[in-house]
Amino acid sequence: MRAETSLTLDLPEPQQLSVDDLHLSFKAVRALNGVSLTVHPDQLVAVIGPNGAGKTSLLNCISGVYRPQHGSVRFGGHDLLGQRPHGVAQLGIARTFQNLALFTGMSTLDNVLLGCHQRVRAGPVSSALFRGRTRRDELQAHGVAEEIIEFLDLQAHRKAVVADLPYGVQKRIELGRALALQPRLLMLDEPVAGMNREEVEDMARYVLDLRLEFGLPVLMIEHNMRFVMDLADHIVVLDFGQPIADGPPAQVAADPKVVEAYLGESHGSVDAAPGATPAHHSSTDDER
Ligand SMILES: Nc1ncnc2c1ncn2[C@@H]1O[C@H](COP(=O)(O)OP(=O)(O)OP(=O)(O)O)[C@@H](O)[C@H]1O
Ligand SMILES: [Mg+2]
Repeated sequence: MRAETSLTLDLPEPQQLSVDDLHLSFKAVRALNGVSLTVHPDQLVAVIGPNGAGKTSLLNCISGVYRPQHGSVRFGGHDLLGQRPHGVAQLGIARTFQNLALFTGMSTLDNVLLGCHQRVRAGPVSSALFRGRTRRDELQAHGVAEEIIEFLDLQAHRKAVVADLPYGVQKRIELGRALALQPRLLMLDEPVAGMNREEVEDMARYVLDLRLEFGLPVLMIEHNMRFVMDLADHIVVLDFGQPIADGPPAQVAADPKVVEAYLGESHGSVDAAPGATPAHHSSTDDER
């Protein structure tokens, strides 16, 4: 179980994310077909749906990896469409990836520090001209990285090479790398995929603490229904790129269209089977 530690990071003011009527196609594949959602600054919004529903594509459109053919994405006063991933990160949107994006040959600390450096904007010229300032930035980055490592109970793994660590710990390091950006909004793509029960409970605690202590808004994709039902304020359900339901957890769980997408022909509600995964999602372990 995780220890009681708290992060004293100074996170900037959260912002509202508004996605409106996104359409994204890859030749004949309609990955997103009219998807809209809002993440208010005090919310955790979950996007759920079977494999291939368009969930990761949605995050990729928001973070500047994909360019949708139609629709708009706004964050605070900024139009995100047309921004590159680096620009979106600079505006304060941090994300984790379904298939982990860590430098596995480097240590935990170095991976988290790299996240900090995404934020420190000292280019080569300013480094040469303002050595003092750059050193101060470096010291500040180290302070932030150490705080995040403590918050995520990663002290024992500080110097360990990431490749040698268990998968659940690597997922936590990825959250740390994202937090190092000191974001205004966090996007998580399947944060507990492949984790055991205790690791899932720990991750729930970290996400909850980030919300309660810092009011950090979160947009999260997850197949683990108990995790989603416990944490989400609002759920958007996609199926084959199509939004099929949208609302608070209890309402979405009882929606017949959602039950059908998740449980096929069987009857009941989604939260009646908290460990349920979507109809065509075979196993969480296959995300590794
Ligand atoms: N770069 C791409 N080129 C071609 N097709 C793509 C690309 N990215 C996504 N797709 C297609 O878009 C659809 C949605 O994929 P996406 O990865 O967004 O689904 P997902 O909901 O995240 O699924 P999963 O739960 O398996 O992660 C799929 O049919 C996928 O094959
Ligand atoms: Mg995905």
